[in-house]
Amino acid sequence: MVGTTQRDTGAEGAEGVAGGVGVTALLVAAARAIETYRHDTLAQDVFAEHFVLAAPASAGWPTRPHQVPEGDANPLWGRFARYFGLRTRVLDDFLLRSVHTGGARQVVLFGSGLDARAFRLDWPFDCVVFEIDRAEVLSFKEGVLDGLSATPKAARVPVPVDLRADWVAALADAGFDTTAPSVWLAEGLLFYLPAVAEKALIDTVDRLSTQGSALAYEAKLESDLTVYRDSPLYTATAQQIGIDLLNLFAKEPRPDSAGDLAGKGWATSIRTPFDFTRQHGRGPLPEENDALAGNRWVFASKP
Ligand SMILES: C[S@@+](CC[C@H](N)C(=O)[O-])C[C@H]1O[C@@H](n2cnc3c(N)ncnc32)[C@H](O)[C@@H]1O
Repeated sequence: MVGTTQRDTGAEGAEGVAGGVGVTALLVAAARAIETYRHDTLAQDVFAEHFVLAAPASAGWPTRPHQVPEGDANPLWGRFARYFGLRTRVLDDFLLRSVHTGGARQVVLFGSGLDARAFRLDWPFDCVVFEIDRAEVLSFKEGVLDGLSATPKAARVPVPVDLRADWVAALADAGFDTTAPSVWLAEGLLFYLPAVAEKALIDTVDRLSTQGSALAYEAKLESDLTVYRDSPLYTATAQQIGIDLLNLFAKEPRPDSAGDLAGKGWATSIRTPFDFTRQHGRGPLPEENDALAGNRWVFASKP
């Protein structure tokens, strides 16, 4: 078991999953629910709508395309939701490639939120998926999945810990093996963390990764995130569901994590989401005053 000093104590937990940054996990789940039922779906997650409907904060949000009257013209439930759908698909593909071709058998999902990949994807039989998030988020998730009698397709180990604290002991206690290759994912997470926590996370991933390990994460390149404060994505998110994303983002400049990884010998590839829109033939494309303009998906491997 993990010592209580490493565990998220739940002190901010009165609001459950929707407290603080946890509400963003519900936002992404709603986007995945809508994506699941699009006629041209990029990723399917049949669990997503159950999370959204189970939380009082999100129970009234749309979970199906026909519930969004303006459809794709709605900046939040159209374009932004599609962005999350594309991100889900691209990172599903990355993880599956890493285990099936790359040979990793340990998957670590940082800020896993309501990610149901342990239940959705076809993992090798000996794969283990570690889900790291705050205790309130993981206990809400557990309750919903239990209610659905959901069965994971890999060994699944929730690790309730705050990533601003020392999460390494919690992961070790959860059974992470530092001698075996791993694949790591920080999807929709790093810009919520203090820069020092991001730097520590990258350093630690490097330290715990054997040769043949891989990492993907999402970054925002803008040095000043408020430059897009008036963008349709941010204003629609604030107006339609009351979430001020900029207020949840860390305020300080981001570290150059791709540069740090390259300096440690990792091979890195930095892609825009729009690259994948073109590859898949659907998804968001650049527009004026675009909160997605600085988003990058970084893929790294340790040779
Ligand atoms: C935007 S959600 C993304 C969830 C998931 N990766 C996905 O894409 O569906 C961000 C997640 O990061 C988690 N998170 C943010 N800061 C965290 C921290 N300091 N420690 C642990 N988890 C954190 C939140 O609780 C939330 O579940």
